[in-house]
Amino acid sequence: MKDQTKSKTGASVNRLEGALKVMGKAKYSSEFAIDNLAFAQGIQSTISAGKITSIDTSLAEKQEGVIKIITHENALKLKGYGGRFEEPDTKSISPSLQTPDVHYYGEYIGVVVAETFEQARYAANLVKVTYAKSEPKFIFDEHLDELYMPKEINDKAKTNTQWGDVEKGLKDAYKTIDVTYNTPVEHHHPMELHNIIATWEGDKVIAYASTQIVAHAVKTIADTFEIPEDNVRVITPYVGGGFGSKLQLREHGTLGIMASKMIGRPVQLTVTRHEMFTAVGFRQHNRQHMRLGADKEGNLTALSHETSAATSTYEEFQEPCGAISQTLYNTPNSLVTHKLMKLNLPSPRWMRAPGEAPGSFALESAMDELAYKLQMDPAEFRIKNDTQHDLSVDKPFSSRQFVECIRIGAEKFDWKNKWKPTPGHTKKENWLVGYGMSGSSRQSPYMESSALIKLKLDNDKVQVTVQTDATDIGTGSYTIIGQTISEYLDIPLEQISVELGDSKFPKTPGSGGSWGAASYTNGAKVACDNAINTLKTLASTSEDLSVIELMKKADLTEFEAKGTAGPTEEFENYSVYSFGANFCEVWVDEYSGMVRLEHFVNVGSAGKILNPKTAYGQIIGGITWGLGQALTEHSQVEPNHGNFITRSFADYHVPVNLDLGKIDVIFLPEDDYIANPMGVKGIGELGITSIAAAIANAVFNATGKRVRDLPITPEKIMKTKMEVA
Ligand code: MOS
Repeated sequence: MKDQTKSKTGASVNRLEGALKVMGKAKYSSEFAIDNLAFAQGIQSTISAGKITSIDTSLAEKQEGVIKIITHENALKLKGYGGRFEEPDTKSISPSLQTPDVHYYGEYIGVVVAETFEQARYAANLVKVTYAKSEPKFIFDEHLDELYMPKEINDKAKTNTQWGDVEKGLKDAYKTIDVTYNTPVEHHHPMELHNIIATWEGDKVIAYASTQIVAHAVKTIADTFEIPEDNVRVITPYVGGGFGSKLQLREHGTLGIMASKMIGRPVQLTVTRHEMFTAVGFRQHNRQHMRLGADKEGNLTALSHETSAATSTYEEFQEPCGAISQTLYNTPNSLVTHKLMKLNLPSPRWMRAPGEAPGSFALESAMDELAYKLQMDPAEFRIKNDTQHDLSVDKPFSSRQFVECIRIGAEKFDWKNKWKPTPGHTKKENWLVGYGMSGSSRQSPYMESSALIKLKLDNDKVQVTVQTDATDIGTGSYTIIGQTISEYLDIPLEQISVELGDSKFPKTPGSGGSWGAASYTNGAKVACDNAINTLKTLASTSEDLSVIELMKKADLTEFEAKGTAGPTEEFENYSVYSFGANFCEVWVDEYSGMVRLEHFVNVGSAGKILNPKTAYGQIIGGITWGLGQALTEHSQVEPNHGNFITRSFADYHVPVNLDLGKIDVIFLPEDDYIANPMGVKGIGELGITSIAAAIANAVFNATGKRVRDLPITPEKIMKTKMEVA
């Protein structure tokens, strides 16, 4: 057999689709040249609560190129679909244009369909709407008395937990902290805008939709338009980022499909960058009240993490900020709760590491604050409070190299020599230099996933095509699935073609929640195992022959095999998490409060790393996003009308290359065969977790100032008082 080491899992293979992307040949959902395509532009509400009393479309209808204007008055009647992606149902949300009700500023209240995008946009501006306004709510602090515990969410996801007696643990502690952190609304901005091209033939529809989960989009469309799932085809070979915003096909998807059905022509609806601030979800505002206590030796005696957040008036959404406090440290007394209030804003959504991203900022800042009070090295404080048992569910971890991540990161960063407990210890000209660290963890889900492989013998070479409805959201799915086939069929990558993102292919859980890589590759592996086993039977041999030899022996030139992998009972008996540690150096300008990231070291332990190159990209992306979360990202609501007024990258600031310092990413060797047969754990969301805390902790170490409300802007640094131990 030939050596496929260079293309097997574990190798730093270049992206299989990289060249296509560079040449512009990778087709994203808006790039399919469909004949007779019409363009739709949404009309958005300009109040945040109330009812539409009239819509005058007469002027808009007269404009050149306008084909149809759809409002609640003439829209197709659709069935509702669920807000939660597990179970589309009729309970919690109405698709757009079903009633005259307005729930938030910027809600889609109509669609103009025209021959060109420009004509549709122009006409949309000429539609005149009058409203009966009601009293809106969008200021968090004005509705604190309306906070409640969303029972359904909590029962289902067990977001609230309690053990021991937190009050007693705090009372018995040698040192305690009692502080509150705020993280603001942050918005989704994947490079590729949300988009759909819909085309009907009778009661069958094809949707080219930018989505993370093909099978879920199929279900949503089938439910909403009341047609069998077999009548729906979703195609999305490439997705230009999703990060949670494309887990569900949202209102724009329904509108595009509805418009196409109503005019009897293919329709494209693209969410503009401006509309991305209202149409595709965002990270909700979270207020996290942290109370921690520790004894003289630095053992935690209590950890209380209480989150209050805002959801919309029409859907309950809660990101589990306290999840990380349930599992990361050993504490005899624990309390984790989540509360919501309903505001007239669009529904929040999953955003990369939903829960952990803001939750880890609170927990890992609080741990730093307590370590400072104890006068302990924050790295040693975390090591001291390690646990190998998940106390929240009373299960062991399948693997946990948390302490190793901290130790190796500390060594690589030279933490022991650099970090000093007294803030302001190092100055370089006008720069205050500080060092900070944090620990991190993220659940690593694993779900049922299938693949089909097709083998073709051609001049003494086997060509393999693998098909699954998996998506590649820029993360490397094509490449790691190809590597898996290469490894388990022992065939060079050049002979393998990977086809993804089409609902006619076998089902997967899609990309999201850090479950994609492990699920996809294990599904592909089972397809390979099945192929070899069946070929052996057909060839009447038990010898370990190559695929070519087996096919020849079985007298086959073509052969297909399918496989499905999924979690076993053993998986359910363990808590499966990835772990990490972060160390960073920041420079803070003494006079302006400007923060510069100088150096970042991230150590992760996430099972077998299928492809260090693509995994490295995931972590770099997470660190970049974490830097944005820490220093710049903040969506602001205009206080009179409830409109998001940060509406472009000119005022919603995300980090660019120049903002990043030197970044080192290290993965610890780990094969977790409890997690799954390939030993893979999740990595995508681990990357952002606890990044903001490491930076905030370094800012404190530089300045002695603890900014507890993200983002840490120069203004906040200048206004915050120094703390004294
Ligand atoms: Mo995930 S919330 O789909 O990045």
